[in-house]
Amino acid sequence: MPLTRRSFLGLAAAAPGLAFWTPASADAALQGVGTGPIRIDGQRLRADIEALSVHGRRPGGSFADGVSRVGYSDADIAGRRLVSSCMRDAGLRVRIDAAGNIVGRRDGRRADAPPILFGSHIDSVPEGGNFDGDLGTLAAIEAVRTLERRGMATAHPLEVIVWVNEEGVAFGNGLCGSRAAAGELVSGELSQVWNGMTKAEAIRRIGGDPDRIGDARRAPGSIRAYLELHIEQGGTLDRGGIPIGVVEGIVAIDRYDAVVRGVPNHAGTTPMPDRHDALVAAAQLILAVREIATAEPGRQVGTVGQLNVTPNAPNVVPGVVRHTIELRDLSSARIAAMADRIRARASEIAARTGTTIEISQSSHHEAALADPAVQTVIERAAADLGLRSARLPSGAGHDAQMAARLGPMGMIFVPSVAGVSHSPKELTHWEDCAHGANVLLQAVLALDRER
Ligand code: HGY
Ligand code: MN
Ligand code: MN
Repeated sequence: MPLTRRSFLGLAAAAPGLAFWTPASADAALQGVGTGPIRIDGQRLRADIEALSVHGRRPGGSFADGVSRVGYSDADIAGRRLVSSCMRDAGLRVRIDAAGNIVGRRDGRRADAPPILFGSHIDSVPEGGNFDGDLGTLAAIEAVRTLERRGMATAHPLEVIVWVNEEGVAFGNGLCGSRAAAGELVSGELSQVWNGMTKAEAIRRIGGDPDRIGDARRAPGSIRAYLELHIEQGGTLDRGGIPIGVVEGIVAIDRYDAVVRGVPNHAGTTPMPDRHDALVAAAQLILAVREIATAEPGRQVGTVGQLNVTPNAPNVVPGVVRHTIELRDLSSARIAAMADRIRARASEIAARTGTTIEISQSSHHEAALADPAVQTVIERAAADLGLRSARLPSGAGHDAQMAARLGPMGMIFVPSVAGVSHSPKELTHWEDCAHGANVLLQAVLALDRER
């Protein structure tokens, strides 16, 4: 029976005479034998991304029409089924944790070693793109499949993870699966209601067990490292013609709910001076958010993305307006200062328009810095593959900012064409997808060799 690679490595490790052939050096030697670093199969990765894109595509649509695969939806469940089968095809043992995260495990030579965790999410925003989350998830699986097909063992166990409801379109607060892992669920979160179901029901729907949600918790220090490949979702890499981004840190994200109450009245018989128009007041508040977010130089951003008017009729002066306010920056202090200024302006607007304005915070995701050593590992992996890289912050939130609570975190970015994301026009070239997946694989192997 031919000596398989995995058994050869096992022998190499066990046979003192071959001590110089430690699995790591054997791997490095055999990886590099004449072919340079081992590489993933870019065609296989593309086929998986295209197969996943079907789940949540509008009827009669095409890949270019993007996807609506909101967390816990039927499309999400169908996508999770596909991804789980890709995991099994890659030799991963698949389980669903209590929060509904999909976890695929591949044992390492050192059973007691902390796992290297890598992955992303597959839920999307409504009418989103086919690369946000999907690339990082399927590239992680392709990296393991590449090792499996070559019979390459690692010292550390590998765990590919698909985090549930990263976008937070469902229930209004994101990073759900990674917050459960980091012990950051908000009290009462499981009884929140959205779309006619509680979060506990939603978690059950995807195979989780809300009664044992605590089992999804991972202890700080329980992983060797966490890596996530993701599209940049901004235009820095694309404009610079740089194939690989090394993320320095992920912004803090604070979300608020604003409720503006005026007096609903007849649109024809209520004279203009007598109106207490909730939508006019909200419009001034929305402009104030933009004004305050742009008042100082920096990368801070402020967005009002969701708004509802009651009774929302063309012949009624609006009575109530509910809208979100989302503030982001690497500095939580800067976000807090912006929020204070917005509240002050809201009081002025309410007094001027004869309305009331309540602003309550609905979620806070702390900023997270990438581990410097992991950033260096990613940079070296890119260089070994002959790829230029640049360091940059992430203006988008990611599960990595929660995974950073568990161990050293690193993120790899690849270019988003024209910086477009959260849109059917979201696009990353297939070659860049493959580059990112190769850097991910090499970074995993490098982290495995160290410590
Ligand atoms: O909203 C974000 O930043 C991420 O895409 N969930
Ligand atoms: Mn994402
Ligand atoms: Mn997103």
